[in-house]
Amino acid sequence: SSKPKVALLGASGGIGQPLGLLLKQDPHIANLALYDLVGTPGVAADLSHIDSNCRVKAYTGAKELTACVEGADVVVIPAGVPRKPGMTRDDLFNTNAGIVRDLIEVVAKSAPKAMIAIITNPVNSTVPIAVEVMKNNGVDAKKRVFGVTTLDVVRAQAFVSELKGTDAAKTVVPVIGGHAGITIIPVLSQAEPSLKFSEDEIKKLTPRIQDAGTEVVNAKAGAGSATLSMALAGARFANFLVRAVKGEKIEACSFVASDAVKGVEYFSTKVQIGQSGVEKVLGVGKVTAFEQGLIDAAVPQLQKEIAKGVKFIKG
Ligand code: APR
Repeated sequence: SSKPKVALLGASGGIGQPLGLLLKQDPHIANLALYDLVGTPGVAADLSHIDSNCRVKAYTGAKELTACVEGADVVVIPAGVPRKPGMTRDDLFNTNAGIVRDLIEVVAKSAPKAMIAIITNPVNSTVPIAVEVMKNNGVDAKKRVFGVTTLDVVRAQAFVSELKGTDAAKTVVPVIGGHAGITIIPVLSQAEPSLKFSEDEIKKLTPRIQDAGTEVVNAKAGAGSATLSMALAGARFANFLVRAVKGEKIEACSFVASDAVKGVEYFSTKVQIGQSGVEKVLGVGKVTAFEQGLIDAAVPQLQKEIAKGVKFIKG
């Protein structure tokens, strides 16, 4: 539509609130619908006082979810429980898998054509869950369910520009694979502007990008996981989807149903996004032997996490 509506599910949380703030300021978004179990009237009243053109409305509790998502062009989902020290993203599985399943049930019925951006972890499992639930409701959403891996890209770009002294705004680093631990694959050889990394730099940067989420979890010491940087990344990706809905062709990395790598049904690479969702999987491209080794190591882990999501729905 020319007046895109974005529904934000989990809008009162640590990610949801700053994400709502950023979406309220996005000139491409006409309507912002905030949904959570609690707290959305306050968040919406607060945000509605910002003098931007986007209209904000609050929806609270399961009974109002349908109205929230009806007519949405893009549904962004950060609802869930965050990670605490000592937990992996996979430890969140049981709680968050159920939350995503229940939300997507309603999206399938009330906004079957929407683009869906999933932030709720473990993304490697929650994306297949969303696709399977849509399928159970008769909706083929394979090209419209996106796992938001933008924070991995944002972090890689931040760390590389810091290390190399490049302009962060112009530094581009693709990150492919999945969104947890060793499934996160920074492709430093494809960084722009073209940069030379020493072997030592590659061996330090790669695990730092892979474990960056844990860096935040530990620093927050029990208060949760990344919220502010995740909100920025989520807003950046939602902006891509809204612009795609309006007719632009967007290229971005995202965890989607993909044939980019043999043996895994979902994989993040750069994809071209248009009005109907993923139009082209742009693939892994040329990688170094070291990066190919990272891909090979990620595949069995990804297979396991994808299968776990599928099994949660199919049994
Ligand atoms: N429907 C809607 N909202 C829900 C539901 C549900 N079924 N269950 C929980 N929520 C809401 C909570 O009420 C809360 O407002 O989701 C929000 C989560 O906020 P936080 O607990 O602050 O968690 P946050 O740090 O935002 O992380 C949320 O994002 O990155 C991922 O791993 C992270 O999966 C976690 C999610």
